[in-house]
Amino acid sequence: MKVVNTDIVIIGAGGAGLRAAIAVAEADPTLNIALVSKVYPMRSHTCAAEGGAAGVVKESDSLDYHFNDTVSGGDWLTDQDAVELFVNEIPKELTQLEHWGCPWSREDTGKVAVRPFGGMKIMRTWYAADKTGFHMLHTLFQTSLKYSSIRRFDEFYTTDLMIDDGVCRGCTAIEMRSGEMTLFLGKTVIICSGGAGRIFPFTTNGAIKTGDGMAMAYRAGVPLKDMEFVQYHPTGLPGSGILLTEGCRGEGGLLVNKDGYRYLQDYDLGPPDPWPRLKAMELGPRDRLSQAFYHEQKKGRTIPSKWGDVVHLDMRHLGEKKINERLPLVRDLSRSYVGADPVTDLVPVRPVVHYMMGGIHTDINAATPMSGLYAAGECACVSINGANRLGSNSLGELLVFGARAGRHAVEYVKTVGTLEGDARIEKQAGDAESRIKSLFKRTGGKQRVAALRRDMNMTLEEGCGIYRDENSLIDTCTRIADVRARYRDVRLEDKSNVYNTDLYQTLELGAMIEVAQTVAISALQRKESRGAHQRLDFTARDDENYLKHTMAFYNPNGDPRIDYADVTITKSQPAARVYGGAAA
Ligand code: FUM
Repeated sequence: MKVVNTDIVIIGAGGAGLRAAIAVAEADPTLNIALVSKVYPMRSHTCAAEGGAAGVVKESDSLDYHFNDTVSGGDWLTDQDAVELFVNEIPKELTQLEHWGCPWSREDTGKVAVRPFGGMKIMRTWYAADKTGFHMLHTLFQTSLKYSSIRRFDEFYTTDLMIDDGVCRGCTAIEMRSGEMTLFLGKTVIICSGGAGRIFPFTTNGAIKTGDGMAMAYRAGVPLKDMEFVQYHPTGLPGSGILLTEGCRGEGGLLVNKDGYRYLQDYDLGPPDPWPRLKAMELGPRDRLSQAFYHEQKKGRTIPSKWGDVVHLDMRHLGEKKINERLPLVRDLSRSYVGADPVTDLVPVRPVVHYMMGGIHTDINAATPMSGLYAAGECACVSINGANRLGSNSLGELLVFGARAGRHAVEYVKTVGTLEGDARIEKQAGDAESRIKSLFKRTGGKQRVAALRRDMNMTLEEGCGIYRDENSLIDTCTRIADVRARYRDVRLEDKSNVYNTDLYQTLELGAMIEVAQTVAISALQRKESRGAHQRLDFTARDDENYLKHTMAFYNPNGDPRIDYADVTITKSQPAARVYGGAAA
């Protein structure tokens, strides 16, 4: 097997992975970095982020306001030390990106422009029209090219973490163009592999977001934290699930039901006051807006369409000039995918799975409980998002915690000295390779990847969606356990080595099933409603029993073991979440 000896292995080359790599290169140029990704970096999902990144920059704003919006938006499940650190560091990160060439949109004065975003009391979201993630990713990528210590391994699918005596020492990955297994042997690993929205059938997430990194850490014994909190974004395009950014509403877009009525005024989200309606109505938080759609649907006030029920996003009053300047991608997507031009037409939208608040358990330095293993970005749960992430906090999160992961990994590497056990790791890598080879040799397998994936997708949406209850969750858990058992009998159709997408989809499905199981079991055991986790049978938030993080531990033979950990509360005591003047 090919062996790449390096110091730091970074898995994933999206925003968090690139930011981590740059931080390592800057902190210690003598360290070798292997940046391993299953896609070319510019195809990472960061590219799809549209609306912006929140960070205090205007005099009318304050770090305390950003802190308070984030903590209450997360329904007090956030760790407040992490949030405080985040709101302090993000303005510096966004300015750093500016210096690296990120083309932030500007005011007429030349100052950085900000726009309103959901659940934020003050306008603080920096943006680059509606292609913010695209520009951030380009900026990070081109910056990474300056550093010769960053060696890229594009289109390598990572299969297993290598662990010796409880210490993470690298990973194995298949080079997709040859099918050859490579061992990346280092002193530390940083996982930045993104989320797992593809466990659901209808999502804004690209096909690559299959939870591979989450599953790898989980199988290696690191808990997945707060997995029951899955974010639905209120405005996805029906059919494709493509995101229409919250920036549409930040710029003044309205949500109306089949009667042309701004239904959000019926859902404790404040009065239909004039724009800017910060923290009210269309600029309420995503969990509340998605829940409102569910109730409109129950009341028969949504609009049937060939893609299922929708409501309408009305941007016509914004005018062509503003739409072209601020929301050009939204116009393009709406015309191309649903045949509606926001300048002249109502655009159909509906809630769509967008983001996992949960992920690999880390501390505020992005360190997991396993020595030598770090995680940052959507795959991680640090946790600044709690039970409901505010829009535009995730691009900031991947910068702040990507950079911290890099810097702290460098500090860790300095402490470890020479490590023994390479031979044991090579043996482990050999075992990982044999497991892959056995998939090729398996004959007579009856299960097909597409059918298993569909079953997993549908049971999650049906039983573990915007609203859940005991019966729906028990049913989902049972059906996922069944999919997990059937997966053992999955059959590879394609036996070739070159870009064998059948193999990678099979491996991705294995990861998704593990992640899906943690989502469903964690949701079943949390008998309260908080943020994005809404139980029809336990409708109130229950701080006495559930102001806790859920920790799901891997069990190879059955359901994950669930435990709980304390939430860090520093200066904001849990209170009712109030939007637009009404407590809800
Ligand atoms: O709506 C959006 O542009 C999404 C932003 C985010 O998820 O942070």
